[in-house]
Amino acid sequence: MRRLRLAATAAPHGVLLLLFLPLVAAAGPAAKAPAAPPAPPNVTTAMAKGGCKAFADLIAASPDAASTYQSAVGGGITVFCPNDDAVRAFLPKYKNLTAEGKAELLLFHAVPVYYSRGSLKSNNGVMNTLATDGAAKDYNFTVQNEGDAVTIKTAASGDVARVKSTVVDADPVAIFTVDTVIEPVELFKPAPSPTPAPSPAPAADAPKASKPAHHPAPVVADAPGPAATDSPPADQKKEAKKSAAAGAPSCVRWFAAALAAVAMASTFA
Ligand SMILES: *[C@@H]1O[C@H](CO)[C@@H](O)[C@H](O)[C@H]1NC(C)=O
Ligand SMILES: *[C@@H]1O[C@H](CO)[C@@H](O)[C@H](O)[C@H]1NC(C)=O
Ligand SMILES: *[C@@H]1O[C@H](CO)[C@@H](O)[C@H](O)[C@H]1NC(C)=O
Repeated sequence: MRRLRLAATAAPHGVLLLLFLPLVAAAGPAAKAPAAPPAPPNVTTAMAKGGCKAFADLIAASPDAASTYQSAVGGGITVFCPNDDAVRAFLPKYKNLTAEGKAELLLFHAVPVYYSRGSLKSNNGVMNTLATDGAAKDYNFTVQNEGDAVTIKTAASGDVARVKSTVVDADPVAIFTVDTVIEPVELFKPAPSPTPAPSPAPAADAPKASKPAHHPAPVVADAPGPAATDSPPADQKKEAKKSAAAGAPSCVRWFAAALAAVAMASTFA
């Protein structure tokens, strides 16, 4: 500090500028180095493209739901969007809800945590949703594996919702389609309890030998994976090089054949 002050008083301004220029120049590239992560996708647009157009339209028509979805994206979100058939079948019930009830139902279809498809399978249990009042722990549902499928249910839904396709699965956003609208007990009366079915033996969960053993994804899925994102491009490059190398000889051969044909044609002309 003292030395700096001394330099400032002693040196002419030009010299000072020269002294600090390298520092400024060095700060530029250094600040740029950590590449800005790509902006998270627009969830409603992604849903609409991925088979949940009707559900995305309902969100867009509910200012409360739209703004909550939008602000939840940055912190991680997993959306279970009912497909268009499911929403169409549910519309009479939906229209019966108050504006607040509609917003709650829409927010009930997303969890404020990013779960990859793999980590969803290993994170069974009760989950809070965007509709949950943090203190009350209400508006929750139960995620459960059923065979190879991941299902979601509440005490109110007659049907369990099955996770179908993956629309987006890139930290911090996952969007999966489900085949039915999930009904929170807070808005719908619990379904009359069905006749107790013979409970399946716990052996149903035994791992199947035919499935390749995947290591379950980490439960806390927000660890950035530069290694994981780096490897596919490298592989692709290798693949591209390989196929280019494979393509070259046949290309040359084709050209040679064409030349020969032209040569032959001219000798016969
Ligand atoms: C997402 O797209 C919709 C429709 O195009 C738009 O209204 C909304 O503002 C977008 N949201 C964000 C966060 O860009
Ligand atoms: C709409 O609400 C009314 C009054 O609660 C109820 O009687 C009716 O069955 C509801 N309709 C549907 C389609 O849920
Ligand atoms: C889930 O929601 C129900 C109904 O609001 C509530 O009674 C229950 O305590 C909640 N469960 C958990 C684990 O938060």
